[in-house]
Amino acid sequence: MESGDGALSATSLDESITSFFTSAPPLKESDNLRERVMEFVELNSTIAAGDGGHRKVVCVTSGGTTVPLEQRCVRYIDNFSSGHRGATSAEYFVKAGYAVVFLHRRGTIMPYTRSLPEDPLLECLELDGDSSIRVRQSCSDAVKKSISDHHAAVAGNLLLKLPFTTIFEYLQMLQIIAKAMKPLGPLAMFYLAAAVSDFYVPWQTMAEHKIQSASGPLDMRLVQVPKMLAILRKEWAPLAFCISFKLETDSKILLEKADMALRKYKMHMVIANELLTRKEEVTVVTVDGKIPVYRDKSQPDSDVEQPLTELIRNKHSTYIKNTNR
Ligand code: PMT
Repeated sequence: MESGDGALSATSLDESITSFFTSAPPLKESDNLRERVMEFVELNSTIAAGDGGHRKVVCVTSGGTTVPLEQRCVRYIDNFSSGHRGATSAEYFVKAGYAVVFLHRRGTIMPYTRSLPEDPLLECLELDGDSSIRVRQSCSDAVKKSISDHHAAVAGNLLLKLPFTTIFEYLQMLQIIAKAMKPLGPLAMFYLAAAVSDFYVPWQTMAEHKIQSASGPLDMRLVQVPKMLAILRKEWAPLAFCISFKLETDSKILLEKADMALRKYKMHMVIANELLTRKEEVTVVTVDGKIPVYRDKSQPDSDVEQPLTELIRNKHSTYIKNTNR
């Protein structure tokens, strides 16, 4: 059953969430994943932060989820996201002292790699005689910076990288991470920049083997993926500071849809962005108003994630103070 705006009513949303999780193919090594996340969260929750409190933990989601069309998957539907927003934001959060759980699509942009060429192994390395390899001079500074920043983040327990591919993996992993972060209360933050599929083929109705083209045109029924934002706020991590994103290609409907998402899913912020201008500007939508955030165009290497994450950190700090009162 659907309500007027195409969204499911509360009861059918609960049912569709249950049905999504019970019918999804079980996540591989879920116990191991749960342990790793819990260990990361526990360790960071004991570390004092500069502001007199404890270290904050943010789950940054990044990249697009896939929807398999066959159980032994040859074909799938994909959601657009390069991973730039998530990876860049993760770097800024680490720099600000947050511990980051980076839930990302395999193969998309990773933190500390964006200043490297597209194929760093082949473009940055060269043979040095028969048995040695060295970094090309032209890449040397970028490689040194990437390595030292990355190693410092991992060695300092500030970065935990967890890859997903399908919508089934993504939502099961998000649930595990959120439940592990629940004890952090308001120190936990969710920054949901991943592009999440809106439709999927339930596992039981999915063809097992490669769909044959000889059978003619393909008719396939896709079911709505339940929005997990409401259950994240209500059950998985009710005190966490939650930020979702709203992506549209039509600027006329963007802010209205972001505002709807803010109220409907009780997000603390919705970041509205348009596909074509997403690297230049975003609008932070809150109950107190809408704040446009721009990349500093006078600086060639600037990005919109720096002012955006700064604004978010300030709002999160205020939220923590107000929640702890
Ligand atoms: O990676 P880049 O190339 O840098 O691009 C960044 C980005 C444009 C992908 C990013 O800034 C962005 O907007 N990500 C969210 C894209 C998206 O899924 O928008 P949406 O309007 O379909 O969904 C809105 C929110 O609902 C999202 O935060 C998503 O996590 C959530 N969602 C979506 C579908 C679903 N079934 N369940 C959800 O919870």
